[in-house]
Amino acid sequence: MKLWGGRFEKTTNVMVDDFNSSIRFDKRLYKQDITGSIAHVTMLGKQGIIPMDDADVIKSGLKELLIDIDNNKVAFDIEAEDIHMNIEKLLIEKIGIVGKKLHTGRSRNDQVTLDMRMYLKEEIIEIKAMVIDLMNTLLTIAKNNLDTIMPGYTHLQKAQPITFAHHIMAYFEMLKRDVGRLNDTYKRTNHLPLGAGALATTTYPLDRDYVAKLLDFGDICINSIDAVSDRDYCIELLNTLSMLMMHLSRFSEEVILWCSNEFQFIELDDSYSTGSSIMPQKKNPDIAELVRGKTGRVFGSHLGLLTTMKSLPLAYNKDMQEDKEATFDAIDTVKMCLPIFNDMLKTLKVNKQNMYNGAGGGFTNATDAADYLVKKNVPFRDAHEIIGKLVLYCVTNNKNLEELSLEEYKNVSPYFEDDIYNAISLETCVNKRNVIGGPSKEMMNKVISINENYLNSLS
Ligand code: ARG
Repeated sequence: MKLWGGRFEKTTNVMVDDFNSSIRFDKRLYKQDITGSIAHVTMLGKQGIIPMDDADVIKSGLKELLIDIDNNKVAFDIEAEDIHMNIEKLLIEKIGIVGKKLHTGRSRNDQVTLDMRMYLKEEIIEIKAMVIDLMNTLLTIAKNNLDTIMPGYTHLQKAQPITFAHHIMAYFEMLKRDVGRLNDTYKRTNHLPLGAGALATTTYPLDRDYVAKLLDFGDICINSIDAVSDRDYCIELLNTLSMLMMHLSRFSEEVILWCSNEFQFIELDDSYSTGSSIMPQKKNPDIAELVRGKTGRVFGSHLGLLTTMKSLPLAYNKDMQEDKEATFDAIDTVKMCLPIFNDMLKTLKVNKQNMYNGAGGGFTNATDAADYLVKKNVPFRDAHEIIGKLVLYCVTNNKNLEELSLEEYKNVSPYFEDDIYNAISLETCVNKRNVIGGPSKEMMNKVISINENYLNSLS
């Protein structure tokens, strides 16, 4: 017999039971469901909505049930549809008819969104801690590579010399914004929907503020229709996780490029690489590729739930049961990617010499050569033109700018002197970019200390 079976004359078709039920995936909410129910029933007792003694019996029954489930002693039942009705049914089996009072003044509609919000709050905190671990790793890598000169790219063509520290700290900034988005999502998830009932609250004198306090919610939802219709917090988290994965996918792509034979800027540790079943020489960056690939899954969940929610009339609709698998899968994926990505970075070897050599070719110091003339009062546009000609000359003669003789320099402009060679050395190119945000060692040290303070302020 179904908990809602009163008005039905026939039993449901087995296919319907299977199709309709969510216990397969919402069983992971059992802790939140029981904790929420304990708070609800405590409030019912305090308000005299049910006798205090009954409330106490229900509470201890729920606590025992939690231990039973923790110890794997309970089998859930598809016929009881979802985690909410499974727990109510198990409670009634355990403590008898008094268990039937638990659902007073409550609906599964406010219950399910309560459970999800409680679950997401915990997950957001865990994910944030993983992101912060990764940020600490980046900071360490940056500190060890303040002098590691490498080419910076635009259009994946060599552009200007930077340092590995500078490049790595670009990802730190992305993760900082991800942490900001996680905090933001947390704030809006932290509203208590319980008390909204099916959609229009109840006739019982509920004390919602009391429940909010018991369950550590910062606020309560103050429109009951919105409270049961809202899945923005799931979508917002999926958006936040999509952005985070997008960042990891860009990072992964660079890791993959950097350890290719063509670049050889880094080498992954053997324990974070894989081989080929046919080609004996291969050492593949599978971890980075999988993180890049799994990004698509998280985007899929995000777009999937947005589409599910699109055009849904108020208030609750069963469509919304689809929020769970999408959200759970994205959370699981991100939680799998972050620690392994972090460990992969912690163990990678930086080939400083290869990076330095890479920074040298490709005229990455051409801007600095133009700036040299500007400092001798040549207008920038003219200087650009002069150096452009010089680069063309170099390309034709298969030389680098630093290999030209002073005579060759003077042929294109009389302003060139002996100090041009120092002005276009890679070290000068990097350390003269002493503007906040730039690659010079002085500025990188400053930015690293700003970010150390930022990380300390989080803990
Ligand atoms: N399993 C449902 C869900 O995940 C719980 C809410 C069901 N409410 C209802 N009136 N059918 O959305």
